Amino acid sequence: MIERKGKEKGAWGMSDYEKMKRTWEADVEKTTQRFPERKEKFQTSSELLIDRLYAPDKENDTYNEKIGFPGQYPYTRGIQPTMYRSRYWTMRQYAGFGSAEETNERFRYLLEQGQTGLSVAFDLPTQIGYDSDDPMADGEVGKVGVAIDSLKDMEQLFDQIPLDKVSTSMTINAPASILLAMYIAVGEKQGVAPSKLTGTIQNDILKEYIARGTYIYPPKPSMRLITDIFAYCQENLPKFNTISISGYHIREAGSTAVQEVAFTIANGMAYVDAAIEAGLEVDQFAPRLAFFFNAHNQFFEEAAKFRAARRMWAKIMKEHYGAENPKSWKLRFHTQTGGSTLTAQQPDNNIVRVTLQALAAVMGGTQSLHTNSRDEALALPTEESARIALRTQQIIANESGVADTIDPLAGSYYVEALTDEIEKEANAYLERIQKLGGAVQAVEEGFMQREIHSAAYEAQKRMEAKEDIVVGLNEFKVDEEIHADLLRVDEALERSQIEKTKQVREGRNEAAVEETLSNLRNAAKTTENVMPHIVQAVKQYATVGEIANILREEFGEYTGM
Ligand code: 3HC
Repeated sequence: MIERKGKEKGAWGMSDYEKMKRTWEADVEKTTQRFPERKEKFQTSSELLIDRLYAPDKENDTYNEKIGFPGQYPYTRGIQPTMYRSRYWTMRQYAGFGSAEETNERFRYLLEQGQTGLSVAFDLPTQIGYDSDDPMADGEVGKVGVAIDSLKDMEQLFDQIPLDKVSTSMTINAPASILLAMYIAVGEKQGVAPSKLTGTIQNDILKEYIARGTYIYPPKPSMRLITDIFAYCQENLPKFNTISISGYHIREAGSTAVQEVAFTIANGMAYVDAAIEAGLEVDQFAPRLAFFFNAHNQFFEEAAKFRAARRMWAKIMKEHYGAENPKSWKLRFHTQTGGSTLTAQQPDNNIVRVTLQALAAVMGGTQSLHTNSRDEALALPTEESARIALRTQQIIANESGVADTIDPLAGSYYVEALTDEIEKEANAYLERIQKLGGAVQAVEEGFMQREIHSAAYEAQKRMEAKEDIVVGLNEFKVDEEIHADLLRVDEALERSQIEKTKQVREGRNEAAVEETLSNLRNAAKTTENVMPHIVQAVKQYATVGEIANILREEFGEYTGM
């Protein structure tokens, strides 16, 4: 037996590395039963064979400990044993504007064009729990997303879309329980049992306090609503992802990549703590936690960021929380390319930015991806711009070859160093946040907000000093009329939406609505899970505003940090 320096071979004459490799090969065998690889043979244009994975040809302690194999702890190289060789990431374009009918058309158009998952953008009134006829909704109905007041709108939103065939992400936070309840009700109307529904509810209130702002209730009741969803889905929607712990908006608010990873993971830990405190078992709920990150312009930093985040989360779940189910250790994430990097100037340049950002997300092992449209610095995307954004993903997937071998950046001196550095710096932030008592306390104390604001200020100064070049903005400018044909939401929509909801109210069984709302109120006053009552209320066509207002009366409204 060949003696290796300081490392005995294992009992069967195998080194650790060989054991890991054998385990991975067995995983590949198993996983390709359900998810066979896309091709018999992967090769380059010169017909050179492309291996599934490139790795050291001999024992390497750093490799074993820090990098490992795809689908194996700590998942640096990806969460699946075969990654995109079996299945591309989900092409999931965020879409929604105007009425449910208009958005349904866009959804069906994107699905016809080959997108493989849905992602709903709701308008601000819906996101903040107001009906379209609420004075607070004036001028905002259908503007930044689709207007959803009642189950009728939700039925129209998913008309001719089979919910047992497509997974749907819903970007909704404070009223997440209400929209999830509506989704369940639509599924049942289509004959799809809740247990068959797949998708994700964003349901991440901490980043709303930190960066996005669509919160309603104070932190404590908000965390309760979140863990009520965890508990309810565990019982009734086992295939549904119960939260999308988001770094996207933290980055959009101006954070660095390191802060994006650190603050998102800190928020993730706060949700795990809250769920455990609510009596849930970590290996029951953790497999359905999901994440959502940004992809900005610095290609290598972004790809390394995702690899570092996966390794951090795996270690935290296994070592800090003692989770034993490998599904609890896997950080599964969606990526959206960086909205704040888009320029209003020379909008077509944004197609290039989005391509580079999407490539970074793919090289970083994303499970799902949204590519921004070129005109989104100006307005919601036109159909043509949304198609180009989707085609960007399809070209990367089908023409670039980057999906034909797993985690091709592994082993790069630069990328591995960046991955280590990001992990180290992000862990330093985590320590500071834990010292403050965790993410909720850190948010209430304004720590993350301050860190983000100072990073944003430094970036702005670098851009103004031309230390950071933004093509078309502070360099390579042209005189141009910004006259791209933009999508405009018809002002008449607000009136027709208000009329539609009025008719829903007139046509429902008012006594039944009242009864469900009173049951909800009683549950909200106790520690009883509110989800079952919200499901009953939406089925009687109680509206988003009516349900959210019951909870406003019971929980109060949060006026901000
Ligand atoms: N080998 C084996 N199995 C594989 C595989 C492979 N290579 N690839 C995929 N699979 C399996 C998965 O395990 C999964 O099966 P399971 O559910 O039984 O485990 C199934 O195939 C589907 O794969 P994924 O779960 O990886 O992909 P999804 O797309 O379904 O889910 C997600 C991805 C990240 C887990 C999920 O949470 C998701 O879709 N998130 C999207 C969130 C989103 O779209 N957010 C948009 C927000 S917009 C916003 O907020 C910005 C705005 O404010 C501006």
